[in-house]
Amino acid sequence: MIVAIDGPAGSGKGTVTKRIAKELGFINLDTGATYRCVALQALRSKLSIKDEEEIIKLANNIEITIDSNGNEDIIFLNGEDVSKDIRTKEVTNIVSQVSSIIPVREIMVDVQRNLAKGRNVIVEGRDITTVVFPNADLKIYLDASEEIRAKRRYSENLEKGINTTYEEVLENVKMRDYNDMHKKFGALKKAKDAIVIDSTNLKIDEVVDKIKDEIKKKI
Ligand code: DC
Repeated sequence: MIVAIDGPAGSGKGTVTKRIAKELGFINLDTGATYRCVALQALRSKLSIKDEEEIIKLANNIEITIDSNGNEDIIFLNGEDVSKDIRTKEVTNIVSQVSSIIPVREIMVDVQRNLAKGRNVIVEGRDITTVVFPNADLKIYLDASEEIRAKRRYSENLEKGINTTYEEVLENVKMRDYNDMHKKFGALKKAKDAIVIDSTNLKIDEVVDKIKDEIKKKI
């Protein structure tokens, strides 16, 4: 079974999908992590965001695997655990641009489909309901106001010891929304058959329950 969830940065997709995956025994596939791996490798190779050809080559030559330790996903880039390294400010600042390079998207869509093959998965991203799994069994679009999304990301950063201000996070959320919604290929949009959930005034538990109810209806 494939449950596909799209939504903007900070809408709660990550937290919610992790919880649902754990509770229902599904694999959680965070597709943003695949683009973050490409961005991290580009930074490590000292590439400029303008070196598109080189970034495409690099995307073709990396191996991404995802495992779980029961509590959280572990992301491996060429066999190295990069779960923390892909969440830094430096990676976050360039990842949207990296994910706008069309051949990079084509390569990552293949990677994502392969990671999901033959499993019960809950997949989150921006183009999952429209491009990666247009025939998913259940499609959800999770939304929330810009301010609440920035507040959530800011609190997450504090917990992880990442040093940012609320204003910086809000600017980054706005910039990424713009980039994510204006991509030529794989832009964030609501699929016609997606169920829209606005989480601005909902607790995580409420969002989790709503989605679990929809999954149960499908089962
Ligand atoms: O969900 P996230 O913040 O980890 O995503 C990182 C970036 O990758 C984000 O700027 C949008 C992009 N992305 C994408 O273009 N398509 C996806 N399916 C998932 C993420």
